[in-house]
Amino acid sequence: MAVVNNHKRMKKKDEVERISISVNKKLLKEFNELIRKKAYISRSKAVSDAIRNYVSEFSWKQTEAGHGIITIIYDHTIKGTTEKIVEAQHSFHDYINSNTHIHLDKDNCLEVLIVKAESKKINEIASKLQSLRGVKQTKLTTISP
Ligand code: NI
Repeated sequence: MAVVNNHKRMKKKDEVERISISVNKKLLKEFNELIRKKAYISRSKAVSDAIRNYVSEFSWKQTEAGHGIITIIYDHTIKGTTEKIVEAQHSFHDYINSNTHIHLDKDNCLEVLIVKAESKKINEIASKLQSLRGVKQTKLTTISP
């Protein structure tokens, strides 16, 4: 998604900037449907909220320690997936405080890990899990007091 600056409106407070972005058609369609369902007042507000969430999630300082909640969904019927996930978690055993496993349906498992580490390490753990074959979705939430 490329972001291009177009105009600047010069107001002191609530200063806004107009941007134009290029986005995948299918993704945009899904986004539009979602904000219609959520009855957003405008698409700009929805995009602003999404950007704010993104900034809040990733602006965490790399050296700051805190907690992370990593949620993964994976297909346990794919050969080697469960073993690789367990292996990865054992290699980060110093940082993983808790692990909950739910069998979602016949094929899919959901796991929630609570980890405590520097944010760089938390990102590393989430990325490692995401990279494994059979892992369909990874969601990382970081919290720091
Ligand atoms: Ni399971």
